[in-house]
Amino acid sequence: MSQAEDHEGTRRDFLFYATGGAGAVAAGAAIWPLVNQMNPSADVRALSTIRVDVSGVETGTQLTVKWLGKPVFIRRRTETEIEDSRAVTVDQLVDPVARNENIDAGAGALDENRTLDEAGEWLVMMGVCTHLGCVPLGNAGEYTAGGVGGWFCPCHGSHYDTAGRIRKGPAPQNLHVPVASFVDDTTILLG
Ligand code: FES
Repeated sequence: MSQAEDHEGTRRDFLFYATGGAGAVAAGAAIWPLVNQMNPSADVRALSTIRVDVSGVETGTQLTVKWLGKPVFIRRRTETEIEDSRAVTVDQLVDPVARNENIDAGAGALDENRTLDEAGEWLVMMGVCTHLGCVPLGNAGEYTAGGVGGWFCPCHGSHYDTAGRIRKGPAPQNLHVPVASFVDDTTILLG
């Protein structure tokens, strides 16, 4: 190829890319209003977050609320539940992943990576078994703290510990922890 042909090729490439770039910008401008229209309106977004009053939840009990069509367990744990759960190391777990939407995906499933508060009193989890989606029973299974805490899914026999981590049975993952936060001392915001 002569130098002139080579130069011509480069020029053609440049024109091609420049045209392609302009096309992409134009397409972007046309698509944006459409995407914007598909964003949920304020009233729909409001349904995707709920506030839960937990002032009546006693230590050692659990409140189950329905959120986005699914049950969410909000548990106020006893000292024994917290101690039992915090004594568990990641190598004892079937699923070492935190499964917590509030923290970095790389964090491990240590108890402190699953609770809502640092002290570990509050545990918020989707009440959906990660096997085939049944609702596990509370204070049940082989991983309670002396009969308190822990969950058991009777559908096919999955046992979750006092932090909702799968310990035995066919479920592949820990119970999922959704986006949640305290907005004041007695109110938890889901979503
Ligand atoms: S759905 Fe829970 S063990 Fe199968």
